Amino acid sequence: MTDTKKSIHGEWSSRSAFILAATGSAVGLGNIWKFPYITGENGGGAFVMVYLLCVALIGIPIMIAETMLGRRGRENPVHTMQVLSVEAGADNNWRYLGWLGMVAGLLILSYYSVIAGWASAYVFKAFSGSFFAADVTAIEQLFRDFIGSPMQLIFWHTLFMAATLLIVARGVGNGLEKSVRFLMPALFVLLALLLIYAMTTSGYFQGIHFLFSLDFSKLSGNAILIAMGQAFFSLGLGMGCVMVYGAYLPKDISIAKASILIAAVDTLVALLAGIIIFPIVFTHGLNPGSGPGLIFETLPIAFGTMTGGWLFGVLFFVILVFAALSSAIALIEPTVAWLVESRGMSRERACLQSGLVTWLLGFVTIFSFNVWADFKIFGLTLFDLLDYVTANLMLPIGGLAIAVFAGWKMKRQHSEQELGLPNPHYQIWQFLIKYIAPAAVFLVFLDVVGVL
Ligand code: TRP
Repeated sequence: MTDTKKSIHGEWSSRSAFILAATGSAVGLGNIWKFPYITGENGGGAFVMVYLLCVALIGIPIMIAETMLGRRGRENPVHTMQVLSVEAGADNNWRYLGWLGMVAGLLILSYYSVIAGWASAYVFKAFSGSFFAADVTAIEQLFRDFIGSPMQLIFWHTLFMAATLLIVARGVGNGLEKSVRFLMPALFVLLALLLIYAMTTSGYFQGIHFLFSLDFSKLSGNAILIAMGQAFFSLGLGMGCVMVYGAYLPKDISIAKASILIAAVDTLVALLAGIIIFPIVFTHGLNPGSGPGLIFETLPIAFGTMTGGWLFGVLFFVILVFAALSSAIALIEPTVAWLVESRGMSRERACLQSGLVTWLLGFVTIFSFNVWADFKIFGLTLFDLLDYVTANLMLPIGGLAIAVFAGWKMKRQHSEQELGLPNPHYQIWQFLIKYIAPAAVFLVFLDVVGVL
């Protein structure tokens, strides 16, 4: 690759623009909606511990590797892998990694958009005062009635998909960059306010205890896989999102520093969400393992009772929708980039086609909460199954392949040049990406299959 090669979609205007966009991709429903509910379902502290270990030992090294591959290839994931495997003298089949990523991205977006639609609907519920002075039963009923109505879910899913596509159609600088700039600071301010509220509840210490006390008897092999899948999901790894964002990254930016910063912010937001949700759960005697509705059944209670709750409730759900938008645009970007680069489509057309497929797929998730709620495979609803297969299987497999390629296939001089790390740091990354990350993913898979 020449040093001057650039992506045809443009480049980030600065280091902070890349960091903002990558953080926007990382921070989303995964942190605020998914992390609390799967932590609740999987028993708390020990699960959180495994999650944190996965972020540090697997997530960060793979994030560095995926960004690096993207910047060196400078194209959509399929092409980037093709170009890089030629450069490395490796097999041409590595391009299937790009394919796997695109499919995973669209599948994930199909349910992501449905849940983001819930958050959008809750903006209006908050606005209309539905949470005001409502008790726990009323809040639960509100949520149940809502997800029980396919028409409502379809409406909000459609609206969210349309917003995502509008932003993506406008391209890197205009759409993606601008929408993230004010989001992160605003999110932190609101989380800080909610944290103060959580600290005043009677269940605060019980919540903290649930989140951080290590009881390994609650940890199954499957829970370890879910924790690892969550590390991938939350950082947005393993499917080419980070790769396409890396493709828009100027040469002179340190990939390692940026990755560590992004992972730190992402993890902080997830932990904050947990520290806010679980005290509310225990204060009101709710069930931490109640599933995907957890934040929609807990936070409204807080907004309904706290001073200024009306305003904070509206703001919170607005920000959650924006955080979801900045992740959704990342999920669809690899496919759009591929359609534009390889199929010669206009960006608008590419958005329309991939968006249509994703929108239709979203109906599976929508119906799994109502008309198909009793239809289960392996004891999982269709939504749970879709989430399991994408987050816990496809993403780690994609991540494993990225680690193997970056650690074993790519020429050392190329990764050294691309990362520009001083030596002990480069060696640590090499060690993690060659041995630790692949071995860890592999062992978790074995554990789940029951071989261990
Ligand atoms: N990380 C985002 C979240 O936590 C979702 C997301 C963006 C994602 N890009 C991804 C998930 C790539 C998996 C793969 O909400």
